[in-house]
Amino acid sequence: MQAVIFKYMQIKKLVFLILFLLTPGAYLAAQQACPVVPLPVQAVKGKGAFRFGEDTRIVCRDGRTMPVAHYLQQELFRRHRLTVAMKPAQAAQSISLVYDGKWKGPVGAYGLEIRADRVTITARDNEGLFNGVVSLVQLVRQEGLSFEAASWSLKDQPLYQWRGLMLDESRHFFGKEKVKQILDWMAFYKLNRFHWHLTDQPGWRLEIKQYPRLAMVGGIGNSSNENAAAAYYTQEDIREIVAYAAERFIVIIPEIDMPGHATAANRAYPEFSGGGSAKFPHFTFNPGKEDTYQYISRILKETDVLFPSQMVHIGGDEVHFGNEQWRSDTGVQRLMKQAGMKDLVAVERYFVERVADSLLRIQNKVLAWDEVADFALKPDSTIVFWWRHNKPEQLQKLIDKSLPVVLCPRLPFYFDYMQDSTQVHGPNWRKFGLNSTAAVYRFTREALPVKFRDAEQVLGIQANVWTEWIASPQRLDYMLFPRLAAVSEAAWTPAAQRNYDGFKTRLAAHFPLYRADGLYYFDLLNPAQTGEPKE
Ligand code: ACM
Repeated sequence: MQAVIFKYMQIKKLVFLILFLLTPGAYLAAQQACPVVPLPVQAVKGKGAFRFGEDTRIVCRDGRTMPVAHYLQQELFRRHRLTVAMKPAQAAQSISLVYDGKWKGPVGAYGLEIRADRVTITARDNEGLFNGVVSLVQLVRQEGLSFEAASWSLKDQPLYQWRGLMLDESRHFFGKEKVKQILDWMAFYKLNRFHWHLTDQPGWRLEIKQYPRLAMVGGIGNSSNENAAAAYYTQEDIREIVAYAAERFIVIIPEIDMPGHATAANRAYPEFSGGGSAKFPHFTFNPGKEDTYQYISRILKETDVLFPSQMVHIGGDEVHFGNEQWRSDTGVQRLMKQAGMKDLVAVERYFVERVADSLLRIQNKVLAWDEVADFALKPDSTIVFWWRHNKPEQLQKLIDKSLPVVLCPRLPFYFDYMQDSTQVHGPNWRKFGLNSTAAVYRFTREALPVKFRDAEQVLGIQANVWTEWIASPQRLDYMLFPRLAAVSEAAWTPAAQRNYDGFKTRLAAHFPLYRADGLYYFDLLNPAQTGEPKE
């Protein structure tokens, strides 16, 4: 009997396969209709819908799935005031979270089966289950007085493992609640790396217990007002935000920018300043002073304790903006002579490699901007962020050196750049370029003028929000939404399956959700609808 059933199953599979191959257009159309962002890679529509009722339960036979189940409970309540309890064993009308060790595919892959009588989410691990839960949450709709999720069968997996967003809180500080809201929306769009630019010229935003003046003095000021009261995250705040992100499978990577962009730190501890230039005074740490390395190493050790990601981004960008005084600094000149360094780039290199060593000693990966492409950094402990879209040769160097890369070229991934030609504040789009939602959406690494040797080397993509021109939460929202949705789909869904018109239709259904959450956003379907906040 079993053999007969097996044979029947095989034939059924074959028939589906033939139908599938004969009607790719129809299949793609069905997939495009699946109202989930980012678009799942396989989606088949079923009949009917799963209705949430008094009896609905979340079933976690394996207790390890409980944190994901708890997130689902919270989201159903937060969004729809649905209270769905958990149950340890199979029940009618249940939503089951099930580990399936046989699940192939990259980390984060999942299956979601919604039928009238039950919902089943399968994955190898909690990260996959979480992604399945997020898709389910997106599919829940109100019908009359009740809530339901239409029947869909999804088999889904991410294109990239690194699906990132960088937020600059040095130039303007937005605070804990705003960051948590952004993390909520990152989770909603399956973005999983939050790169937190916490230090730069205007302000230092991270409490360091061994050097309290960093936050108390370095935290004073922002890009709009250099006398603004000190604003920074206490270590308690950081622990809270890191835990909040972890519940959403988002890894937080702090950035302590060096040896340039160190102005705020130098206000607090001028003894470690390497000076600057006329335009950028006190811009650098002093690479010619032994004490600087101990100071930085202590800061990094505290940072490591706060962030479980085992990664610190050390910046490394634009050092030449303000390293003028290295030429006259006796310590730097001594170092150059001793080590036979020919120019200031050699000093920069010495600094970065030495700080990288101190990070490696505490088992942290070294993350940095693409200026470090020429330095001696190891592929197994480094990740480099290619941001200079006009310097593809930097990316090519990284590829040739087998260094893992995250692609965040200014065009189209700098979200401080304008998104529409009607915008008047911020970097002039005629000069800097326009990062429209469509441009973000259509990004593919295949279109870059470089030769990739190994697809795995590209860890993923990331959007960066610099905040010189973004002072208010409202403007931050406006610059983030809906481009956050576009970068999510570019990071998740293979280019061949993306379709911008379909995306806009799915996206339109999210605008009421943005409003319900108090978000301001750029309504690309009707640009006159939402005016541009000036600050
Ligand atoms: C950068 O935009 N300076 C990385």
